[in-house]
Amino acid sequence: MDYSEGLVKISIGKRDLVPSKKDDIFLNEHKSFDRDINVLLVKALGWKNKAYLEVMSGSGIRGLRLAEETAAFSKIVFNDLKKSAVNNIKKNIGLNKIKGCEVHDLDAHELLKTYEKGIDYIDIDPFGSPVYYVVDAMKKLSRNGILSVCATDTGALSGTFPSACRRRYHSNSYLSEFYYESGLRILIKECISLASSYDVALIPIFAHATRHYFRAYFRKVKGAKTADELIKKIGFISYCPKCLNRQIGIKCECVCKEKMILIGPLFAGKLYDEKLVKKMASFGKHEDFFGKILSEAEVDSPWFYTTDSICKKHKISIEPRIKELGFNKTHIHPKGFKTDKNIFEILKKF
Ligand SMILES: C[S@@+](CC[C@H](N)C(=O)[O-])C[C@H]1O[C@@H](n2cnc3c(N)ncnc32)[C@H](O)[C@@H]1O
Ligand SMILES: [Zn+2]
Repeated sequence: MDYSEGLVKISIGKRDLVPSKKDDIFLNEHKSFDRDINVLLVKALGWKNKAYLEVMSGSGIRGLRLAEETAAFSKIVFNDLKKSAVNNIKKNIGLNKIKGCEVHDLDAHELLKTYEKGIDYIDIDPFGSPVYYVVDAMKKLSRNGILSVCATDTGALSGTFPSACRRRYHSNSYLSEFYYESGLRILIKECISLASSYDVALIPIFAHATRHYFRAYFRKVKGAKTADELIKKIGFISYCPKCLNRQIGIKCECVCKEKMILIGPLFAGKLYDEKLVKKMASFGKHEDFFGKILSEAEVDSPWFYTTDSICKKHKISIEPRIKELGFNKTHIHPKGFKTDKNIFEILKKF
């Protein structure tokens, strides 16, 4: 199969229409949006002559797009455990005439253990959770380097499989109406916590929850003080499933007398470097998405509300539109909005 995306052409041999983990060469066309955002973020960094390493390349499409569509990297390192994928990456490098490439066929752990230090950007894009690779990747990153992680185990992170979340992320996940945001923030919390043991702060600069995956980008800053500041933003959300009241911190009972549910620990701080996001938005692609990201970044709260869940729980028959309410939209849910007002103040507007 031949496929083109952005400015690159990719060949992946024979495959069924629907991508599968079992494919010899893995390529998910539905993640073209994720790769678009990745390209825009790297463009916005304004880098030149940097080194990029991806530990799980699949077809190599991500690294190839970053090489072709940004001026950031003079060295691009690809890796995949599968020999067939590695041969295919080499073919795709040739097809797109990309210079400065290296291709490895190692297990991601081995690559990260053995590769030289001082990489400017590392991408971790596995099937499932990236947490097993975060510490080794963080150690190989240069000062102010960028770590990008993707998680597809959204069921664990968002509350469908809470025990898997406790085992893997040491947090309580819960299927509230903002489960994708709490899931994304549990993932971010775990990456921050893993790095902080080494006096390193992984500062979130961008994140999104799209379709069935979460992606987060961090800047590595060394120093116990910066790590301490970041850790102060890790906490619990107490959530009332009856009236949708929620607050940061541990509270057992809601004002409505319902038992509150503890979600977290999760990262409750800022997910975005707003200057960077504005630069990403200025390239004029995915305007609607960036509009929502900028709108939600204005509000300092680790959750969102949805108009339909409020109407259902509070038996309101006419569902208002977010525009009429004057609240900030979120990119995660079409009916989701962000506000620092509590549920009782919000209800006055319905
Ligand atoms: C989700 S795909 C990567 C997709 C790619 N980054 C993209 O943007 O299209 C995951 C890839 O990791 C490879 N892989 C799985 N386990 C691995 C491991 N332990 N070490 C290295 N590669 C691995 C798989 O063969 C697969 O190609
Ligand atoms: Zn309540």
